Amino acid sequence: MKICCIGAGYVGGPTMAMIAHKCPDIQVFVVDINQVRIDAWNSDGLPVYEPGLQEIVEENRGKNLHFTTDVDAHIRDADIIFMSVNTPTKQYGVGKGRAADLKFIELCARRIAEVAEGHKIVVEKSTLPVRTAETVKRILANTPHGATFDVLSNPEFLAEGTAMSDLENPDRVLIGGESAEAIETLVNVYARWVSREKILTTNLWSSELSKLAANAFLAQRISSINAISALCEATQADVDEVAHAIGTDSRIGPKFLKASVGFGGSCFQKDILNLVYLCEHYGLQDVANYWEQVILMNDHQKVRFARNMVRTMFNTVSGKRIAIWGFAFKKDTNDTRESAAIYICRDLLDEHAHLAIYDPKVSERQIKADLRAAFSRDGVLSDRHAKLIEENVLICASPLEAAQDAHGVAVMTEWDEFKTIAPEALFQAVFKPAFLFDGRNILDHAAYLKQGFEVYAIGKGLLEG
Ligand SMILES: NC(=O)c1ccc[n+]([C@@H]2O[C@H](COP(=O)([O-])OP(=O)(O)OC[C@H]3O[C@@H](n4cnc5c(N)ncnc54)[C@H](O)[C@@H]3O)[C@@H](O)[C@H]2O)c1
Repeated sequence: MKICCIGAGYVGGPTMAMIAHKCPDIQVFVVDINQVRIDAWNSDGLPVYEPGLQEIVEENRGKNLHFTTDVDAHIRDADIIFMSVNTPTKQYGVGKGRAADLKFIELCARRIAEVAEGHKIVVEKSTLPVRTAETVKRILANTPHGATFDVLSNPEFLAEGTAMSDLENPDRVLIGGESAEAIETLVNVYARWVSREKILTTNLWSSELSKLAANAFLAQRISSINAISALCEATQADVDEVAHAIGTDSRIGPKFLKASVGFGGSCFQKDILNLVYLCEHYGLQDVANYWEQVILMNDHQKVRFARNMVRTMFNTVSGKRIAIWGFAFKKDTNDTRESAAIYICRDLLDEHAHLAIYDPKVSERQIKADLRAAFSRDGVLSDRHAKLIEENVLICASPLEAAQDAHGVAVMTEWDEFKTIAPEALFQAVFKPAFLFDGRNILDHAAYLKQGFEVYAIGKGLLEG
């Protein structure tokens, strides 16, 4: 059997690496139009950082795992074709800022229709609006070589940072489709390492919608606890204590109840916006409003954090150096898409702060590109903002270097290494009064207070020693 996966991104790369690893008899080809990305997959510096990924790629690459830009040849050869291309929020025209931009998925489907021969199973791996398979099927119906297709939906539930263990031990695999034979073929691939009870099969539309609904529910929990965090700060309740108290209720459960500076990542916001757009499309305005509130709450949390920083530092951060610890949207990934750090840095730069940023896995090029994008309006960056990024942003090689002579230190990402910094060392590095803003509640606040810091923690407010 041969598998072709179109899209060598955060999903295509790790997912196919796991399939190749678990199924040595299947040849897996990951194809992409982006030559730089493919070259990186074939090098020692993989384009995606995930614990455990490098080892699995190195073990299988060149044997039954291949990365190439030869899209057409591998579409032609494959029995199963996964579409794992990006489906970002549309930035133009009808549905701008809400609908999913399906141009990449459409291009993919058209390419498959154009070059395929014989019978293929086409699998939607990308997250798509419910009923996209209808469009895919219509495009595939127009094929010059008489090819025939079964379309399946097989959304991916991996979380970045834990992708490899999620793929190895998924809570479930979801496969939606119409042809029992095609479903069984794909079930048989996953069944090599996932127990059959965990492989759920549904109709196409349930599968497509379940992915959007799962992300909406996950994000909703974060916005819910973040909403409570604001109330905690106003009332001297402690959000970690509240989260623990409510999480022990088995109906609620303890996971995803960690208050933070706000959720990020490429999926939650875009998938909820997509859900909101779909609800509006079907005339369900109240349902749309309900889900949109999850995003508005998340935006509020980011703005609130930046405002609190400014207010705490005597209502001005102009000309002050602020250490930003972490830029990735969560630990153990190099992905910065929609990271809360981007928007907090933007707001602080707008207040003319000088930012000294450290992240163990994110490059200077990526950080500056994200900041430029955050300040751009319709793709245009003003000279003033370009200058601000050029002159007021310094990328540092360690947390303590970033903190040197800083007026404040802000934790944006929950990287484990931040917990290993000695409060004394940090206290010596920074200006006094020493301000610490913990946007992830990961540090030992009591130790920092004892050292003489003024500590602001999410859902706890300004702490007193
Ligand atoms: N990142 C996640 O954690 C995650 C989790 C679950 C689901 N998803 C979904 O999976 C999909 C892919 O996400 P990602 O994070 O891997 O995106 P990504 O941007 O990292 O990768 C997508 C890749 O597709 C390639 N591509 C686009 N059009 C192409 C074409 N016509 N032919 C060949 N290659 C093409 C791009 O060059 C890019 O390398 C999205 O729909 C996303 O919502 C993502």
